[in-house]
Amino acid sequence: MNMQAVIDQLNEILKHEWTGVAQYSQAGFIIEGVWREVYADKFLEDAEESFGHAKLIGDKISALGGVPTVLRNEVKQSRDLREVLEYSLAFEAKAVEMYTKALELAEGNRALVVFLEDILKDEQEGVDEYTKLLRETPATQAELSSSHRKSG
Ligand SMILES: [Fe+2]
Repeated sequence: MNMQAVIDQLNEILKHEWTGVAQYSQAGFIIEGVWREVYADKFLEDAEESFGHAKLIGDKISALGGVPTVLRNEVKQSRDLREVLEYSLAFEAKAVEMYTKALELAEGNRALVVFLEDILKDEQEGVDEYTKLLRETPATQAELSSSHRKSG
């Protein structure tokens, strides 16, 4: 196992998790209208999940002898719910990709593999969840009800 390569990848992941903290928090703060009732809590929970992962990854980087980054990537912002859900799906899919890459680099270190697999499972659940939510946005429902009206 190339320790420096693992630490570098974990720091890329940490940047992504910090991005998630800011991106999901902002989405939760600004959502308005009736969907606020559903999505404000959902987005804030996702921000907390990112912070939970950031804590795990930051502690691990430190344990491996690295310095956990304080940087984050660009935050995707929108007031359009469907767009926010698309950004969220893209965010989770990128996380899956990044943890998968870290797992390849960690090969041979069983404990680290298990540690990363645990988080990877959460990220895949995020992908699954946003994939399903994108099938049920207000836009989709409006389309459904308008086609219903037309046919009825
Ligand atoms: Fe995460």
